[in-house]
Amino acid sequence: MVACIGRGRGQLSPVVVLASFLLLSLAAHAQSATQPLGGPHGVVKSANGELLEGIMVQLIAQKNAIRTTVYSNADGRYEFPMLEPGTYTLRIARPREFHPFVREKLELNGPAELADITLTRVTNAALLPALPEIAAQMTGSEWLLSLSGTGEEKRLLTVNCNWCHSYQQIFRNRYDEHGWAQIVNRMTKGAGSPLINMNPRGRFNDEDTAKLVKWLATVRGPDSKDPPFVALPRPQGRQTRVVITEYELPRLELATHDVWGDSKGNIWYSPHRSSYIGRLDPRTGAVMEYRVPAVDAGVLPGTHWIYVDKNDIVWGSENWAHSIWRFDPKTEEFTRVRWKVPEPVNSPMGRQLRA
Ligand code: HEC
Repeated sequence: MVACIGRGRGQLSPVVVLASFLLLSLAAHAQSATQPLGGPHGVVKSANGELLEGIMVQLIAQKNAIRTTVYSNADGRYEFPMLEPGTYTLRIARPREFHPFVREKLELNGPAELADITLTRVTNAALLPALPEIAAQMTGSEWLLSLSGTGEEKRLLTVNCNWCHSYQQIFRNRYDEHGWAQIVNRMTKGAGSPLINMNPRGRFNDEDTAKLVKWLATVRGPDSKDPPFVALPRPQGRQTRVVITEYELPRLELATHDVWGDSKGNIWYSPHRSSYIGRLDPRTGAVMEYRVPAVDAGVLPGTHWIYVDKNDIVWGSENWAHSIWRFDPKTEEFTRVRWKVPEPVNSPMGRQLRA
């Protein structure tokens, strides 16, 4: 029933390595302007000596893959919190208009002053070239600013395609009009995020659907050219005072939905599409997984909400199987309570399907 995922480098299974993009961002602490964080620090500048503000500087611990990211301030200075001594990778998390920067195998022990990070711009032009690595770093707003089209066309996308996944997931694809029509049909009539049950009534009318499909096939058709990219300004001032800590989770396709803390400082998370729930120890990055008992045949596994009560009992809701379970970490036993709802299984519960 219990899978313990080794975090030591030698123990990384291929699954863990594959899952390295699944990062759970849990802690973002506001950092006061005056209070030093006490960890490794340094300066980011451009090749012509300009100090760069709002650059995401990241250290990845080799031991447990915990990623810590800080931003450079108006003086180009960045400072990490105190980190465990060890071997780290230093990189710029989202270089965007600059060429990537990575320094491997940095031995860190204490509040070291790191060598200056010098970044070289990809171009001196105002718009960024349509290179695949730049396209992959664009935010949804930057994509929308960069693509041609009217406000009306773009609004159809923002109101209908805005809450299940990023625009990146949309714009990295290319289809002709027929292909986009199929995609939009599934996205707007698939009832709930598994897109399994179809609702004959879509979210918007046929005329608007046709407009959106036509626009998508124009800007993201098989032969449409990638646009040069408009990059929005980087964070400035107070926006740069943040520390982001990310932890690797051991599985692909987890689709982590919710998190809740227990009395011992652990973080419990619920995956939307997997039969495992997990307990992360943010002090070490270690993850312990527990297998939720199988759901009925033909029903998607996965937990929606998660909650830890004052006795450290974990509760979760199963959105597709329509039940609630209780998990006692001491005995590692799950108890399931079925929830009677009018919706068919594999549709979100608590919200009637419109026929
Ligand atoms: C109800 C939630 C939901 C909404 C709203 C939604 N999508 Fe999706 N979309 C999904 C899911 C779920 C997938 C499958 C993702 C997966 O499993 O990898 C997906 C996948 C996609 C993909 C394929 C991505 C890939 O690279 O494989 C495209 C393209 C896409 N959506 C476009 C759209 C468009 C256009 C809209 C607006 C009309 C939209 N989506 C709205 C849930 C949604």
